This record gives sequence, C-alpha cells and structure tokens, in this order.
Amino acid sequence: METFTLNDGREMPKLGIGLNQVPSADVGPALAHAFEVGYRSVDTANTYLNERAVGQAIRHSGLPREDVFLTTKLWSTDSGYTKTSTAIDRTLKRLDTDYLDLLLLHQQYGDYNGAWRAMQEAVAAGKVRSIGISNFNLRRLTDLTSRATIMPAVAQLERHPYFQQRELKAFLERFGTVVESWFPLGRGDKELLAEPLFAELGRKYGKSPVQVILRWHVQDDGIVIPGSTNPAHIRSNFELFDFELTPEEMDRIAAMDRNRRFHNLPEFLERIIFQSMRMDYDKRQR
Ligand SMILES: NC(=O)c1ccc[n+]([C@@H]2O[C@H](COP(=O)([O-])OP(=O)(O)OC[C@H]3O[C@@H](n4cnc5c(N)ncnc54)[C@H](OP(=O)(O)O)[C@@H]3O)[C@@H](O)[C@H]2O)c1
Repeated sequence: METFTLNDGREMPKLGIGLNQVPSADVGPALAHAFEVGYRSVDTANTYLNERAVGQAIRHSGLPREDVFLTTKLWSTDSGYTKTSTAIDRTLKRLDTDYLDLLLLHQQYGDYNGAWRAMQEAVAAGKVRSIGISNFNLRRLTDLTSRATIMPAVAQLERHPYFQQRELKAFLERFGTVVESWFPLGRGDKELLAEPLFAELGRKYGKSPVQVILRWHVQDDGIVIPGSTNPAHIRSNFELFDFELTPEEMDRIAAMDRNRRFHNLPEFLERIIFQSMRMDYDKRQR
C-alpha cells in the first residue's frame, strides 16, 4: 500500500475503507474482507455508532494493532476542552484500543479551539498519533491554525471530480496538511459515475470508471476512503496502484469541476442541526 508522509512525519495509507452509515452487524464482514484484500486503513466516527464493532473487527482480524491505521472523529457537541478530553477517553474505550492513528474534529461548530487544545494534549499523552479536521471552511481553518501549536495533519472534506475544493486545498498546502476525500464517488452518484471520460480512460487502462475516479484522487495528492460493504466493490476499489493517468488526463478531470456538492445544507441550518445532535455514543452503538 502506498502512503503519504503527514506533516508530523507519520505514514498514512493513500486508500482506506469508509464506514459511514454502516450498521455494526455489517462492519465485521466488510472489514474482514477488506483486511484480506489488503486494506490497512479504516475510517469511522463517533456519530457512525459503529465504533465498538470496528474495534472488535480489528481484534478479530489477528492483525497487529500497529498494522492498522485507525481514524475516528469527534462530534461538535463534544467540542470544548473538558468535553473533548472526556470524549477522547470514551472513544478509545469503544474502539478497544489505547491509541488512535488519526483523530479528526468532525465539524467546525462549537468550541473547536478548546477541542483542538485537548486533542494536542492527547497527542502529547500518546493517546492519539495524528490530529486533523473535517468540514472546516477557510475562515474557521484560519482561526484554528492561528492558535494551534500542532497544525492539522489531515483535512477530510467532501471532494470528487464535480467538487474539487481547489482553494481550500491550496490553503492547506502551506501547513503540509493532506486532503482526504469523503464522498469520493459522489456517494455513488449515477451521473458522475457515467461520465464518458471515465469510461474512455477505463477502456484505455482496463479499469472501471470507479477505479479511474479513485485513481484521480490519489494521484491528485489526496487520500481516499470509498465506502462499500459489497465484497466485489471493496476488492475492485483496492486495485488503483497498477496504472497511472497522464498529466493531460489529470487536467481533463480537473476541468470537470463544477462546484457541485452532494452534501448541501446551508451553514446556519447545519449548525442548528449538528449542535442539537446530542447522542449517548456509549449506549447507542448500532
Ligand atoms: N467527514 C465527513 O463529514 C464525512 C461525510 C461522509 C462520509 N465520510 C467518510 O467518507 C467515506 C466515503 O463516503 P461515502 O461512503 O458516504 O460515499 P462514497 O464513497 O462516495 O460512495 C459510496 C457509495 O458508492 C458505492 N460504491 C462503492 N464502490 C463502488 C464501486 N466499485 N462500484 C459502484 N459503486 C460503488 C457504494 O455502494 P456499495 O456499498 O454497493 O458498494 C455506496 O453507495 C464514508 O464511508 C466515511 O467514512 C466522511
């Protein structure tokens, strides 16, 4: 598996498996298959309510803990120094591990600066190796990075050929922050997957349109975490490292950017909804 070297010197696989909305009962089989295929990076979150199942699947895999790159995310209702410190300990317990490879702040709401301080302390305490953010806009990212002593290693953002986040990606480069794409396949959007360019390039390289899109992500210096519980998809999504798009082909995909996101809530509504999503993560694991 190819890796990116993060700004803190740690290595992170370029490809992982995403577990958004995957019920706990499906996590075990999906991860067992993914590990067998060769995946070594797993993306979950407090709000996915499947962390306990993820911890169990890693244990049952028999893989040494250090061979698996484990990412999870803290929700904004736990933002703030004290709440975040407690949330980190609870998260470790649910995942049945004594450290996280990457801990992300899931949303830009609440006291994210207090949360970041607690995350920096968790790094110093050895509970977390790398820390990063998700879904921050330029303004809040500027605020956070102006106070932080550890710069985000990773920024997990909605990103796909229709929504390439060029401005934010360029801003993040000054901190050496690697972009990680969520909705890398536009959530399986039919129009995106049926773009003639991906079929054309797929024919050229003997690959599927999905493999071409995923290859574009990693070749554009992004980490990619496609979500799937389908064994055939999990396997084929892994086969990205035996072909290379030319610079001209990369440019043609770059030209598909149309500032179209698939997650489209206005910010004021998002803040209200997200800040009211109080969940007892310990009890509500599905
Ligand atoms: N930070 C955030 O706020 C945030 C938000 C959303 C997601 N995420 C993370 O990003 C990950 C990826 O996002 P996502 O899963 O929502 O969207 P996605 O990866 O863009 O798309 C997933 C969809 O694509 C389908 N798919 C996957 N591989 C395929 C293939 N080879 N051929 C055809 N269809 C395929 C899947 O169906 P099958 O199951 O049938 O394969 C599923 O319906 C998540 O799992 C999560 O870990 C983070």
